[in-house]
Amino acid sequence: MKLTQEQKAFVEDLLSRMTLDEKIGQMNQESPSIVGGFDVPFSELIEMMTDGRISQEEFGRIMSTAKQDFHEDDIRAGLVGSQMVNDPRQNNALQKIAVEESRLGIPLIIGFDVIHGFRSVFPIAIGEACSFDDALFEETAHMAAAESRAHGINWNFAPMIDAARDSRWGRVSEGPGEDPLLGSRFARAKIRGLQNDRSSALNYVAACTKHYVAYGACESGRDYNTTSMSVSNLYNVYLPAFRAAMEEGAATVMAAFNDLNGVPCTVNRWLLRDILKKEFGLDGFVVSDANAIRECVIHGIAEDDADAGVQAALAGMDMDMGTHIYKDCLKAAVEQGTVPMAVIDEAVRRILSVKVWLGLFENPYVPEELIEAYEKGLPAEHVALCRKAAEESVVLLKNEGNLLPIKRGQKISLVGKLAGDANEVCGAWAMAWKPEDCVSIQKGLEAAGAEVKYYPCGGPEGEIDFSEVDRAARDCDVIVAVVGETCAMSGEASSKADISLPGGQRAMLQALLASGKPVVTVLMNGRPLALGWEAENLPVILEAWHLGIRMGDAVASVLLGDVNPSGKLSSSFPSVTGQCPVYYNHPSTGRPGSKSKFTSRYLDAPWDSLFPFGHGLSYTTFAYDNLVVTENPDALEISVSLKNTGGREGTEVVQLYMQDVSASLVRPVKELKDYQRVTLAPGEEKTVSFTLPKAAMGFYDNAGQYRLENGLFRIFAGGSSRDCLMQEIRLAF
Ligand code: NOJ
Repeated sequence: MKLTQEQKAFVEDLLSRMTLDEKIGQMNQESPSIVGGFDVPFSELIEMMTDGRISQEEFGRIMSTAKQDFHEDDIRAGLVGSQMVNDPRQNNALQKIAVEESRLGIPLIIGFDVIHGFRSVFPIAIGEACSFDDALFEETAHMAAAESRAHGINWNFAPMIDAARDSRWGRVSEGPGEDPLLGSRFARAKIRGLQNDRSSALNYVAACTKHYVAYGACESGRDYNTTSMSVSNLYNVYLPAFRAAMEEGAATVMAAFNDLNGVPCTVNRWLLRDILKKEFGLDGFVVSDANAIRECVIHGIAEDDADAGVQAALAGMDMDMGTHIYKDCLKAAVEQGTVPMAVIDEAVRRILSVKVWLGLFENPYVPEELIEAYEKGLPAEHVALCRKAAEESVVLLKNEGNLLPIKRGQKISLVGKLAGDANEVCGAWAMAWKPEDCVSIQKGLEAAGAEVKYYPCGGPEGEIDFSEVDRAARDCDVIVAVVGETCAMSGEASSKADISLPGGQRAMLQALLASGKPVVTVLMNGRPLALGWEAENLPVILEAWHLGIRMGDAVASVLLGDVNPSGKLSSSFPSVTGQCPVYYNHPSTGRPGSKSKFTSRYLDAPWDSLFPFGHGLSYTTFAYDNLVVTENPDALEISVSLKNTGGREGTEVVQLYMQDVSASLVRPVKELKDYQRVTLAPGEEKTVSFTLPKAAMGFYDNAGQYRLENGLFRIFAGGSSRDCLMQEIRLAF
């Protein structure tokens, strides 16, 4: 996000004409309050819908009948800088007040949680990341930007790029998984997709990278919990995606709820001013998470609201999401000299700069024709991209006896409540989908012409109807059992202490297996599940996440073999919950897990993941050979030969890893350094080449300094983090 000299001068001129109240107004974000009928703020209502306390339908009903206060008077008085609304006509009306009726005519920046698509809902991020397809990440973000703009939203609270390694945390669903390199590439692509198409004012939005930072490391996977870690761990694992997003020009950042080493991110000057603004060079602004400034009082770091507001402003928090603390307390703090005017000016300059860069002064409104066009339905190319993204995100975890693909004409019994429920395909943080766009697995199979009979039997919640399970197993050639989690079981405030299949679903699978019929298991879920029993007993497991509105079409094409699965896991799966956090790139221990007693292991569970990061099968097979590593002055040139050894075309994600064998700090056993998607015809062979810059082979120490240390390195290439060819090379930088 860069402004021209002229735009900068415009911002300075505006700033020089603003009163203190108007300046603080820009730092204040409002969300509609529901007045009458339902007495909670809009943001709370959204969270209630998101976490399942109320259904989407109830939410719609409340919104259509409840009277809402959109804070029009405050907007008119110049006391609101931002709003959170997703109705295009309402947004036009609010913008009109800001632009035409406030003294300085400053438009609102209108934010919304468009996390994995707006009305076109794509797979949840942990799933989309399994495609390892940067072009796809960008394309889906670009479409989300266009749909947001068409609804008056110019600021998306995305991408969520928290590295997350503990799947008890419900928010693993929202981000790109456990790896800092995949997370960084995902972040870059999302920023490009959201922000870079400036061919029209309605093609881009401001990104809001979140949650800054280390939220994914919340202790014991419990949401909002404390985090503590070394500086090197922070720099090597949790900051890289944010650094990448800043390099890509992300316009804004949302601070995380958690404290890091004792200081809540909301008031953490080191994180906000020193690292984000100075070291990473954020040009835009930082917003708090919802209510987070007030929560600093509960954290016990501020005495009262006013104190929290002062600490946040001084730390570099530019905008207050939803507490009114800036609005109510900052003026007095400035007048008393506790908060220098320069702090206010800096925040307002940043906020105005984003508004100018967004073109809001020239184009504040959504044209009526665009609103009407979307009211007619989703364009065909949007639906097609939803399907493509869903197809690429599916991961085939196990396919014993090549039960998949199912042959046309085979009689399928489709089992499981999730399979027939189109309301369960979109996953957490999807708030603008329309029931008519959503395709369940049942409908997807039917539309694809499969011979399928549906038996709901039961799901993640409630009882299983075992007599129906028996009936399902009787009259078919193959059983497709769809099990997993409801959408409300992942996302914010959805941590779990047990991440095995919930409810009676395992018993249902046991009963199906006992029938002797072949059982294909499809998982719909928002987190890696603990699948020890399932992996041992079930012949086939297809990980399908919450794939978005075209989930049913995508799963049907994979089950029936029209699409050859190519996804690879963006997060490791444990056998049992007690292994969490489990991730492939863990630091080397002095006693690596083994069968021997005094090693880093469990007495009652494997020490390693069940399905590792990068794992994913195909309907064809690939063979790797001839890994060659050569050195030039600036980089390693690496090549590996890949052959399609099976009977059909397939796409393989070729993964490049390295290990710094001995260094001044303990380094991970393996680190992903690059990847490529390669499509090969049966029998085809290709040399896949990577250039690994030497400058990318270092790490950050505990002073946050980047180090390249001479010595032995291992280079790995393969089809998963566990299954690689390896070469050693000694380097002097
Ligand atoms: C809370 C969530 O942590 C954040 O991700 C979201 O963007 C905001 N609320 C706004 O809804």
